[in-house]
Amino acid sequence: MPNHIFIKNKIKSFSKKISVSSDKSISIRSILFASQAVGISRISNLLESEDIFNTLKAIKKLGINYERKGNTYNIQGFGLNGFNIKKNITIDAGNSGTLARLILGLLVKSKFKIKLIGDKSLSRRDFSRVIKPLRLFGVNIKSKNNLLPIEITGTNFLRPIRYNENIGSAQVKSCIILSALNTPGTTKIISKLSRNHTELMLKFLNYPIKVKNKKNSSTIYIEGLNQFKAFNYEVPGDISSASFFIVLTLLSENSQLIIKNVNINHSRTGIITILNKMGAGIKLKDKKVYNGEDIADIHIKSKKNLNAVNCPSKLNSSAIDEFLIIFLVAARARGISKFKDLGEMNKKESKRLDLAIKFLKLIGIKVDRLKNNINIHGNPDLMLSGNYEIKNFLKDHRIFFLSCITALTLGGKWKINDKDAINTSFPNFLKLLNSVGAKIN
Ligand code: S3P
Repeated sequence: MPNHIFIKNKIKSFSKKISVSSDKSISIRSILFASQAVGISRISNLLESEDIFNTLKAIKKLGINYERKGNTYNIQGFGLNGFNIKKNITIDAGNSGTLARLILGLLVKSKFKIKLIGDKSLSRRDFSRVIKPLRLFGVNIKSKNNLLPIEITGTNFLRPIRYNENIGSAQVKSCIILSALNTPGTTKIISKLSRNHTELMLKFLNYPIKVKNKKNSSTIYIEGLNQFKAFNYEVPGDISSASFFIVLTLLSENSQLIIKNVNINHSRTGIITILNKMGAGIKLKDKKVYNGEDIADIHIKSKKNLNAVNCPSKLNSSAIDEFLIIFLVAARARGISKFKDLGEMNKKESKRLDLAIKFLKLIGIKVDRLKNNINIHGNPDLMLSGNYEIKNFLKDHRIFFLSCITALTLGGKWKINDKDAINTSFPNFLKLLNSVGAKIN
C-alpha cells in the first residue's frame, strides 16, 4: 500500500452529522489513572490510535494487565505505585510527548531503572521541562542534553515540592501532579493556564486536590499518598480532531455539519472563540457533563465572509494544537490576522510554527514574522490551481490533516506523503472525510 494520497478535487457541498475520534489527552490520562487505582477500571470509547496503544503497552510492561471487551477496556490496577517489575525495562513512548512526560511522574518510586525512548520526532523534543521538577522531588534522572533516551530511577525519599510552572504546559503540570500522588505531604504548583484534564479527573476520583483559579494562572495543592478506587469512564470526542472538520465546513460552499459529543472543556475551546471572533458563527448545543468534563454537539455552517483576527495571546494555550488549522482560516479571511508568542508551536511533534509559515507561503499567502509573532495577510478570493506536494514534515499528524483540508477547500492538485501519520491521533480521518463526500485516492 502506498503511503501517500492524492487529492484533485474540492469537496462538494454537504450536510452531515458525524462523530470524531475520542480525546487523546483524556484517553492517555484515563489509562494512567486506571493503572494507579485499586481494582478493575472500565474505560469506554477509548481512542484507538498509536499514542494510546503505546500507553497501553507501557502499563503492560510495568505489570498492569488489561483486556478489551466490546467498546470497553478493563484495566486491573493495584494502587499507587502498584507496578510489578522485576528488572530494568525500556518504555517506548513512540510519538507521544504526553505519554512520555506523564508516565515519568508515575515512575518516581520505581526500584528499577527505566529507560524511556521515542520515535525520531519525540527524540528531538526537550525534556528539561520535566527533568527539572522531577529532580526536585529527589528522583534520579540521566539524559544527554535533556533529550531522550532518559533513564529514571525512583526513590523512597521523595519530598514534596513548590513549583512555578511558567511555560503553560499541561504535560509539565500533569507530570508534577502524578509525581505528587506518590509523595508524602502537600505539593504546590503555581501554573500558567493550560488544559486541566488531570485536575478534573482527580476531582472525579474524589482525590484531595485543591485548585484555585486566577485570571492567568492556577494554584494547585495535591495531598500525596491518598488511594483511589477503580472507576468507570467514558471518553468524549476530541476537539483537536474536530477542528479539521470545523474548518472543512466553514471554508466549503453551502455546507453544514454537526459534530456529536465533543469535549468543550474551557481550556480546549480557544479555536471556537478565535473562529467566532472572525465571524464563523459556530454554535455549541446539547451541553452536558460526562465524568466532570463538559461535552456538546458542535454546529457549523459554511461562511463566505470571514474577518481577520487580532488573537490575544491569553488564548494560546487553549488553542495550541489548533493554530495550524486556524491559520488556514486566517489565509481566507479579509485583512491581516495577528498571532503572538507562539514559540511553543515549535516544540511540538514538528517545528509547527516554521512549517506553518512555509505552508502558507506555498499556497501564496504573505506572512510577516517577528520572532514568535506572525501576521497573516488574508485573501478572501484565494483559490488554488497548481500542483502541490507535502513531504518532510516529520510525520506530524496535524500537518497531514491541514494539508488535506486545504486541498479540499481551496483546490489544486495535491500529493500528500506519510499517510500513516493519521494513526497517531485520528486513524479514521480519511474514512470520515470520504463519508462527508471527499474524493481521495
Ligand atoms: C497535551 C498538552 C499540550 C498539547 C499536547 C497534549 C496534554 O502540550 O500540545 O498535544 O495532553 O497534556 P503542553 O504540554 O504544551 O500543554
